[in-house]
Amino acid sequence: MILTVLKEPDPRLHIKAKAIEKVDDSIRHLMDDMLETMYQEDGIGLAATQVGVDKRVIVIDLNAGSEEDEPDVHCMANPEILWHSEETSTCKEGCLSVPETRADVTRPARVKVRYLDRQNQIIEIDADGLMATCIQHEIDHLDGVLFINHLSKLKQELIHKKLKKLKKFQNL
Ligand code: NI
Repeated sequence: MILTVLKEPDPRLHIKAKAIEKVDDSIRHLMDDMLETMYQEDGIGLAATQVGVDKRVIVIDLNAGSEEDEPDVHCMANPEILWHSEETSTCKEGCLSVPETRADVTRPARVKVRYLDRQNQIIEIDADGLMATCIQHEIDHLDGVLFINHLSKLKQELIHKKLKKLKKFQNL
């Protein structure tokens, strides 16, 4: 089922999501709906917070939208960053909850992440490049943080003004 992606400003995007107890059929169902929604909206990652579900669940497929590459699906429940590099990297980020906005965000270049997969198994992975960026962006969502919250106050004000105008225009 395609879910509705919340758009900034929406207070539900700024809630710290709750850990789940275990990955059962209902969580797998949520993961499937989130993947379907992410593909529909042309995203490469989606957090449950963005569809108004107060659970620590994210889905990622860096190959979404690619015609040549096979799907590369990662479903993660209760993801946590165990370690991050001192070295940083800067990436132009966007977000389905912040329409028509892209901005450079600097984050640790590499992370070690632990999570529960679809089979409720504990998995640990090392990620770098776009995967590291994407995981950190999605975990931020679970903590109620958007990528624009990493920008200066002035830039955030400008973006919020733009989003307001955009919303007015869409409601006409
Ligand atoms: Ni996002």
